[in-house]
Amino acid sequence: MSEIQSLTLRRPDDWHLHLRDGEALAAVLPFTARQFARAVVMPNLKPPVTTVEQAGAYRQRILKAVPHGLQFTPLMTLYLTNVTAPAEILKAKASGFIVGCKLYPAGATTHSDAGVTAIEHIYPALEVMQECGLVLQVHGEVTQPEVDIFDRESLFIEKTLAPLTERFPYLKVVFEHVTTHKAVEFVQQARQGVAATITPQHLLHNRNAIFQNGIRPHYYCLPVLKRETDRQALINAATSNNPRFFLGTDSAPHAQHTKENACGCAGMFSAHAALELYAEAFEQAGKLDRLDAFASEHGADFYGLPQNSGEVVLERTEWTAPEHYPFGQDRLIPMRAGEKIHWRVRTEHSA
Ligand code: DOR
Ligand code: ZN
Repeated sequence: MSEIQSLTLRRPDDWHLHLRDGEALAAVLPFTARQFARAVVMPNLKPPVTTVEQAGAYRQRILKAVPHGLQFTPLMTLYLTNVTAPAEILKAKASGFIVGCKLYPAGATTHSDAGVTAIEHIYPALEVMQECGLVLQVHGEVTQPEVDIFDRESLFIEKTLAPLTERFPYLKVVFEHVTTHKAVEFVQQARQGVAATITPQHLLHNRNAIFQNGIRPHYYCLPVLKRETDRQALINAATSNNPRFFLGTDSAPHAQHTKENACGCAGMFSAHAALELYAEAFEQAGKLDRLDAFASEHGADFYGLPQNSGEVVLERTEWTAPEHYPFGQDRLIPMRAGEKIHWRVRTEHSA
């Protein structure tokens, strides 16, 4: 059988991305801007992006860091807290550059300590979001330390997300970085207006990757990688052409020493090879022809934004991901560091 050698896609978007700030932002943004036209930029900075003013200033810093000659539009989101005011939500909608608000259950993940401690606290904000059409982006894990880490997503669906989607029947909800077959089933069966993003790491790896011949901190992210049966469910969902599932890398850079640590940070950096890694996952499933819709159509349609014009070309070319990238004064270890990757994006800007 002759293998396909190149694949042309509509220019894609990343619907879930961590860009950080300052030197870290400058180090990682070019990777994303090279492939993606737009990205939803997560607000879990320190301090978090909780106001329209902060989001506007952060947006300007991002725009300044876009390499010359590249077109990239950051789509901003506000970090919900127990005290987010409905007036701030209206202001966010009016800004035109904020597309949603992010729910971090307090303590669920990196920089989530200012997050929401009980869902009732954000009912007034959700009411207004539902009315004005801002999207709720959800980190879907319960936070009680006694709950098994592998069950936190499933329990969140039962305790919080399912009731929430019923209580606010018109609220648009993105269940971010789904990791389990239960999450896939929930999204498939949920009411209209519920969708999910899926990361490359959850499509390509199961939890064995974290423990292969030793402990591998660069495979640690939250929600944590799950079982092989879960991974299979994610592959089926991503490649099913169901418009409820779309691309969100959750690329989350951390300095090398903060991951290779007795208490290492959660997050995998994938922006250097995002589309290439998704292409591998889709090809393994024999569904490369479905990548375009997942990467470049479903997300825009869900958010009610135009699909991009322009194209990117993926070529079948073997290259080796660098062992590390510069990251301010530190180093950043990318996904698949030092290993072969089988696709490469060619853009009009690439060498
Ligand atoms: O692994 C993760 N890293 N999961 C998250 O939810 C946050 C992210 C980060 O900001 O590092
Ligand atoms: Zn994230």
